[in-house]
Amino acid sequence: MTPRRAAAKRPRGRPTAPSTRARSASAPAGPGTITRLAPLKAPRRAAWPFVLVNMAMTADGKIATANRRVHTFGSRRDLAHLYELRATADAVMCGARTASADATLGPGGPKYRRLRLRNGLAEYNLRIVVSGAGSLDTGLPLFARRFSPILVLTTRRAGQRRVARLASVADEVVVAGAREVDFVAALAHLRRRWGVRRLLCEGGGELNDALFRADLVDELHLTICPFIFGGRQAPTVADGRGLQRLAQARQFRLVRRRRVGMELFCVFARVREQTARVRRGRARSPLVAADRASRQRAKNGLTRRRARG
Ligand SMILES: NC(=O)c1ccc[n+]([C@@H]2O[C@H](COP(=O)([O-])OP(=O)(O)OC[C@H]3O[C@@H](n4cnc5c(N)ncnc54)[C@H](OP(=O)(O)O)[C@@H]3O)[C@@H](O)[C@H]2O)c1
Repeated sequence: MTPRRAAAKRPRGRPTAPSTRARSASAPAGPGTITRLAPLKAPRRAAWPFVLVNMAMTADGKIATANRRVHTFGSRRDLAHLYELRATADAVMCGARTASADATLGPGGPKYRRLRLRNGLAEYNLRIVVSGAGSLDTGLPLFARRFSPILVLTTRRAGQRRVARLASVADEVVVAGAREVDFVAALAHLRRRWGVRRLLCEGGGELNDALFRADLVDELHLTICPFIFGGRQAPTVADGRGLQRLAQARQFRLVRRRRVGMELFCVFARVREQTARVRRGRARSPLVAADRASRQRAKNGLTRRRARG
């Protein structure tokens, strides 16, 4: 099995789990597995998936209005970018408040599902929702659309009844951490048990912040849109608790920017020692790959012109 087919792989120890391809849109969820994770001792980076965060933000850094009513404001190009990125990921993840909107976290139409297959991935991505309190509404559209497995990451705060309720609609409920999800353990579990090598997180701000704090984000895709929302209560790309000192700030490098119409599409790569994992992940990102290709084309053109001249 090639690594990028991994999301279709059956999780070990759960022989009845359906493959992401086998799921039909109307198939009911079976009673999900409940997995309780202990903290990982001395985890190695290779144990986690490559993590991308993709967000659209206004020019003043907001991802929704203060009353949360407006949260989609990107262009059609931005929406296409979202599906193109999903087509590179084994799994797509969001926080409970983002899931409460009309998100189904699916791969998009046939065009994008074909792109996934061409990329060597399962036709449908795994879907993951994070809810520390386990208060997620089980009547969400997400749970009604049964095209691929759904996992819920929660904590011991959720209690047995809530965990059992979530397990009635999800394929697996993973309990990791006491108050906040222990993403170090949870992401290693996604890699080990579900074969997730590339994980795309689509917010919101609280979930992003937890991933940034845990230093698990490898690449940040930001679409800067030409609006100002203002408002102290309006969510931003990373809210939650945040970090307190400059020395703790997660540093990223701008590796790509492209203006399309009135929007600016940016890709930032986490600056840390150049591990094989970072290099591998960057090479697989469509915008970064396109950038590399365009630089190569420019170089070839230059060489040809020099040869002619
Ligand atoms: N413009 C964009 O690209 C974009 C993208 C996504 C979302 N949005 C917008 O952003 C807003 C939502 O963002 P948000 O920051 O308010 O919420 P969020 O991150 O989507 O969800 C927050 C919830 O997720 C759970 N959660 C997050 N981190 C956790 C952790 N470390 N441990 C345990 N549970 C955790 C908690 O659920 P429990 O309460 O169940 O514990 C928490 O209440 C919405 O308005 C949405 O539409 C915009």
